[in-house]
Amino acid sequence: MNDFAASITFDQLVSDPYPIFARLRREAPVVLLPKLGLWMVTRWDDVRQVLSAGESFTSAFPSMATQIFGERSVLKVEGDAHAELRAAVDTRFAPERIERATTLTREAALPYAGGLGGRDELMSGYFEPAASVALARFIGLPDVDTDALMRWARDLTAGMSNFTADPAVHERAMATAAEIRRTIEPCVRKTADRPDGSVLSQLLHSGCPPDTVRSAEHVVPTFIEILSAFLEPAAGAGLTLLALLQHPAQMRAVREDPRLIRKAVHETLRWLSPNGALSRRATKDVLLAGQMIPAGATVMAVIASASRDEGVFTDPDTFDINRIPFPNLGLGYSRHACLAAPVVGAIIGALLDVLIEQHPRLSLDPGRPHDLHGWKFRVLTNLHVRIGDPARGS
Ligand code: HEM
Repeated sequence: MNDFAASITFDQLVSDPYPIFARLRREAPVVLLPKLGLWMVTRWDDVRQVLSAGESFTSAFPSMATQIFGERSVLKVEGDAHAELRAAVDTRFAPERIERATTLTREAALPYAGGLGGRDELMSGYFEPAASVALARFIGLPDVDTDALMRWARDLTAGMSNFTADPAVHERAMATAAEIRRTIEPCVRKTADRPDGSVLSQLLHSGCPPDTVRSAEHVVPTFIEILSAFLEPAAGAGLTLLALLQHPAQMRAVREDPRLIRKAVHETLRWLSPNGALSRRATKDVLLAGQMIPAGATVMAVIASASRDEGVFTDPDTFDINRIPFPNLGLGYSRHACLAAPVVGAIIGALLDVLIEQHPRLSLDPGRPHDLHGWKFRVLTNLHVRIGDPARGS
């Protein structure tokens, strides 16, 4: 037993996981953390192995996500069941839809950007509502209040990373999932009869023989899972802006050449991965990097750590938008990689483009520090900025 691994607690990971990941990569890259009851895999090659070796590691096992979403969400099934759900909606997030995603995001973002001025908090004041409105339009969600969309995603995400089994967090996530089921039920019934090309409609109809439709029980868990990701682009955008504002020369470069935004997003998904760790279960005893992981063990593939593996990246702790492009694990890897991966960069890029175009002089508010915490999901709860030029007091 590695003494350091034995000492690691949830609180330490939540507060700043990166020094812990670095030490694990050096001393115990595949290890059981007894206080968490989880195996951690922290190096690049091993993380990719966990995520791609379907015969050894599965994502189909009872978990907080299956309790909240239901048994059969796309992330929690494997094999044909997974391929079927993925194929039903993949086209809605395909690269051909990048332009549409960009246009919708710009349209959604403009009014929120226009409402900013003086000293602002950008997560709840800009990124989260703008991203939620854009995604709702992009997936063809009928009218749902933006505040409800944001609350849903927040509650579901908290429920999925409730490692300390806080009953209040769990109950809130379960109640929210029930509220979503009630809210979308009329829409499920209507779209089952009349396909309309929305993501929900695709889930119900796509790939089914004529005159047949999948049941609500079959598709609603995946739909709830998609709704749970609604704040992820906001998280990616907030983290990218934070990284740029902490590196003024790179921020200046982006202001001068907005095409660099996409590079900044890519580098942020590596440097501050919003999804830090992906859970799997060992289907059998598996030997990985010299350690025997027993069948049935829960294994965290820590993409946030793999993304700073010094064997793969030069100066991995440095944020550098001019890095030679390299595959990125920030959106996952292999069969369960992010469904929205083709369009996510465009959505985040558009949120940032609009903000920087409208408010080129924005800067961090030195009096109000940001709050960044978490390790499964790295959450930026606030990002206070000054919108005008601080030197001119505007
Ligand atoms: C910055 C934004 C995002 C990040 C960083 C992100 C990250 C990820 C990651 C790491 C995975 C892999 C999970 C695993 O293997 O356990 C994933 C899967 C997934 N993501 Fe995203 N995501 C983002 C945005 C979105 C959005 C906007 C949606 C939908 C509207 C979405 C829907 C999904 C779905 C449905 C899966 C499961 C795919 C499957 O199991 O086949 N994600 N995402």
